[in-house]
Amino acid sequence: MSKLKIGILGSGRGSNFEAIARAIEKGQLIADLRVVISDIETSGILKLARARQIRAEFVYPGNFRTKMAPDSETRVVKILQEEGVKLIALAGYMRVVKQPLLEAFSRRILNIHPSLLPRFPGLEAWRQALEAGESVTGCTVHYVEATVDAGEIIAQEKVPILVGDTPISLHQRIQAAEHRLYPSVLATVATGLI
Ligand code: GRF
Repeated sequence: MSKLKIGILGSGRGSNFEAIARAIEKGQLIADLRVVISDIETSGILKLARARQIRAEFVYPGNFRTKMAPDSETRVVKILQEEGVKLIALAGYMRVVKQPLLEAFSRRILNIHPSLLPRFPGLEAWRQALEAGESVTGCTVHYVEATVDAGEIIAQEKVPILVGDTPISLHQRIQAAEHRLYPSVLATVATGLI
């Protein structure tokens, strides 16, 4: 059976990458994880990918803070195309995706966000939920479109906010939910793309 080739973009620790790689290993997600790309040379996600002998590429993002320079994004597209990637999972990728990436992978880029979108888009969404006095938050997998954290929602998992929660404890609980939700959504989406 042919497997969907996927690529992951991330800037951080890489715990979602690890959850996806484990789901593939266990046969819960039928996919071929071809490449991990990061805008941070020393990121955990690149180290974890190398440890698993998965192609791991740092792409210098250029001088912008919130997006990649167009040339850098073109390089990202080239790497993904070289690997035959058909679906991209953003996993803690801290830049806004622009053209040419959006155009080359239209409706084939997913993201995980640590809140029940459309509530709390943007940074540190767990802290926002805590400070707003919510009793429930969660995580969302959505398609990536030009507007940040606003693409079509595919699935969500709720996470309770408990008395005494700190931003750290709440973020950990949300991440545990992310590690369940993201691989299972990818498995469903992958089935439709094969
Ligand atoms: C996750 O909490 C995700 O929701 C957000 O960035 C974080 C990435 O964590 N977009 P990790 O690098 O996967 O551990």
